[in-house]
Amino acid sequence: MENKRDDRRTHDHVVDRRAKHGPVVSSNLTWTETKVTSEERMQLLQHEAATIWLTGLSGSGKSTIAYELERQLVLGGHVAYTLDGDNVRFGLSRDLGFAPAERTENIRRISEVCKLFNDAGVLVVTAFISPYRADREMARKIIGEDRFIETHLATSMEECERRDPKGLYKKARSGELRDFTGVSAPYEAPENPALLVDTSKISVMDSVSEILTHVTPRFRNE
Ligand code: ADX
Repeated sequence: MENKRDDRRTHDHVVDRRAKHGPVVSSNLTWTETKVTSEERMQLLQHEAATIWLTGLSGSGKSTIAYELERQLVLGGHVAYTLDGDNVRFGLSRDLGFAPAERTENIRRISEVCKLFNDAGVLVVTAFISPYRADREMARKIIGEDRFIETHLATSMEECERRDPKGLYKKARSGELRDFTGVSAPYEAPENPALLVDTSKISVMDSVSEILTHVTPRFRNE
């Protein structure tokens, strides 16, 4: 009798999860609850878990700022981890290109990873162009409103193209590279980001300090 009730409860859970997360291809799935809560993990690490989501054009400084931010967070006693656009495309998203649907799938996978890392208590910093507003909203939904800190690196297109650290704007202009954000593919700027930083006006260190000033009251662990 007891077992039957338990089975039903587990089944309800799976149905709930499907409703929450959209269609799932497999049907013979059972959700198993863990015995350690996210709160217990945060208590252990002595800081909150969240995702600092950097968005901006190629060359806006996302990777540079993300890795410096991660460094500063770790030095400050936080368990932080950076997920970077190019790096993720060497592994998790190695099968994806830059067509709109592929970028959406890239952002979906990354968001699920952020959710798992946050659940494990880890602070995540992401560095993805994430050019589509709808995809960033999907990320917000997957990660959770209270854990998603949208940060726009609002460096102008002119400045990004002037920097052109990987020579990609040049390739895009000559037609050698297709679907390139800002040249032959759109970038939809956030309308209401939690934070906006223009790296053409302030240095990397000042940009990182500005982000830290915004986020550390939440994460400070002393
Ligand atoms: S996203 O649109 O799916 O968020 P992501 O951040 O993973 O993009 O990858 C962007 C990186 O891929 C750029 O920094 C650049 O080095 C490289 N890249 C190669 N081709 C393109 C392209 N067509 N558009 C944008 N970035 C490209």
